[in-house]
Amino acid sequence: MINNGKYPSLSSKQTLNHITLPNRIVFPPLNVNYANTDGTVSDKLMKFYTDLADGGCGLIITGAAAVSYDSIASDRGMRIDHDGCVPGLKRLFSGISRRGSIPGIQLIHCGRQAANSATGYDLLAPSAIPCPVMSRLDPAYGVREMTPDDIRMVRSDFIDAALRAADSGAGVVEMHAAHGYLLNEFLSPYSNHRSDGYGGDAYNRARLVTEIIEGIRDDISRIAISVRVSGDEFVDGGLTPPDFEEIIPLFEDAGMDMLNVSAGVYESFHHDRLERCRISA
Ligand SMILES: Cc1cc2nc3c(=O)[nH]c(=O)nc-3n(C[C@H](O)[C@H](O)[C@H](O)COP(=O)(O)O)c2cc1C
Repeated sequence: MINNGKYPSLSSKQTLNHITLPNRIVFPPLNVNYANTDGTVSDKLMKFYTDLADGGCGLIITGAAAVSYDSIASDRGMRIDHDGCVPGLKRLFSGISRRGSIPGIQLIHCGRQAANSATGYDLLAPSAIPCPVMSRLDPAYGVREMTPDDIRMVRSDFIDAALRAADSGAGVVEMHAAHGYLLNEFLSPYSNHRSDGYGGDAYNRARLVTEIIEGIRDDISRIAISVRVSGDEFVDGGLTPPDFEEIIPLFEDAGMDMLNVSAGVYESFHHDRLERCRISA
């Protein structure tokens, strides 16, 4: 067992909404690219996560699962955008729960950081500003500003995905609003130049995430809701820690139970071997 008695708090329980974590050890979302090619749960993915549960992890949040057909991050990433994903998720979450851990799943729309060649569509973003990294790597790269209908669609995709997760036995759903993906793009003045109710001040930029949290909370009372943010984007004009003094209370008022803080966007990550990731035309 991980805790040898030296750190008693590590093995203390933690309550998130109606969910009780058996200890304070959390495995963060990690896209291991072990899903089947259709994004459903494979035996390899199942073994990866159930081994972590056997190791005594209190909460296991799976790698990011795509909430819609145009939000795919990689060809072996998980998906949760249709009901065909549910049987595999049920098997995965019950395997984790049976071992005493709480299963969680991260929900993602990749926004302007998806690869067009993977999606086949122009990428959705709050504003038509290309991602400086992906536009260099992908010859087919194209991005467009989301219409109000697009925003409604993405909001319901996240809420539907959370419902699927809850129906499949997840205790926690996490919105991926970090690392420069779509929800992060809305939060940030670096990537969101909109002039409607979803752009401008922090309240408006946070609106899509708060509406998703409220929509999930209205439909599912039991599940714990987490949001992952990049506390500092490390780009000129991007989000820095003081910006979150205004944003986080909005998430809390909407019904967030847990905050997961990471950092950076694609442009601020280290890119020593970026050229190896170039996508062939
Ligand atoms: C291969 C790989 C895949 C990752 N996938 C995700 C992901 O799906 N969602 C996410 O929020 N973070 C993802 N991350 C970031 C990790 O959750 C974590 O924040 C990062 O590895 C830093 O870990 P550390 O805080 O222990 O240094 C990924 C990291 C790696 C290396």
